[in-house]
Amino acid sequence: MNTGPTDPEHYKDRQRQQWDRVAAGWEKWWRTIEDGAQHVNDRLVDLAEVAPGKRVLDIATGIGEPALSAAIRIGSAGRVVATDISKQMLDIARTRASAAGLTNLEFLEADAERLDFPDHSFDAVLCRWGITSLPNYSSLLVKIKRMLAPNGSFATSVWDEASRLPLTNIAITIAQEMFHSAPPRPEPPPEVPEDALESVMIRAGFADVRVERLTVTLELASAEAFTQYLVDVSPVVAALLSDQPRMRQKEYQHLLAQEFRRYAAVDGSFRVHNLSICAVGRK
Ligand SMILES: C[S@@+](CC[C@H](N)C(=O)[O-])C[C@H]1O[C@@H](n2cnc3c(N)ncnc32)[C@H](O)[C@@H]1O
Repeated sequence: MNTGPTDPEHYKDRQRQQWDRVAAGWEKWWRTIEDGAQHVNDRLVDLAEVAPGKRVLDIATGIGEPALSAAIRIGSAGRVVATDISKQMLDIARTRASAAGLTNLEFLEADAERLDFPDHSFDAVLCRWGITSLPNYSSLLVKIKRMLAPNGSFATSVWDEASRLPLTNIAITIAQEMFHSAPPRPEPPPEVPEDALESVMIRAGFADVRVERLTVTLELASAEAFTQYLVDVSPVVAALLSDQPRMRQKEYQHLLAQEFRRYAAVDGSFRVHNLSICAVGRK
């Protein structure tokens, strides 16, 4: 267990830069991600009882989920406010929303911990894979409860730490071995709430808290494709590579793909199974 970043504001600046850097990668791999994870969006929207006409807040929406799934569900009488700290991620979310013909959502560039809507502003608050990026998520939960209407729900999903880290850790270790003068590993994320999610939500005052687990399977054509995916979408890996010359980056990817090949299926294809923990609580 770590105690979180020493300087939360500096940590958030780094987060913003790191997510801006991988926004194009998220756009590139979006289909792969959602082929494996759309059911998490659907489940969050169900758990929070998002229905036609509802007002929904999505925190740390990235390039637009679960905001877009919620916008489809609520129809023209409802409203989604989708927020994120990264302008680049939000720009892509906006483009995706208009490509989908959705006019019932707005985007707001904002640090989640500074959101300050009036009491009872939303019927549902959603957040997929965003809470773990926040240095002070437990006080954010108290604020979310305040912004919810009576009987409104907060539904969130976080990665199970054990299933999230192994392949990323291999990628980080190889980067550090290869680049002797590697830039320092990005500051560790705040204490991860996976095991504690249920109790943190209860402590924040939510009622009827329930937790469930969903498997998210990413399917890629090869170990090389998975390597490219990780380099493109992981803010940590991208940060480690960012100062390296192009040639060294290519060598790194080659080495990593070689290492990953041992995890490939017999036909060379690559499947990564992760656990996404969903939790819901009612005001
Ligand atoms: C793993 S992505 C998840 C994005 C999206 N919810 C999804 O499920 O595809 C994490 C997102 O959290 C955002 N983020 C990180 N720190 C944040 C903060 N302090 N406030 C708001 N958003 C933040 C990042 O910019 C990034 O878009």
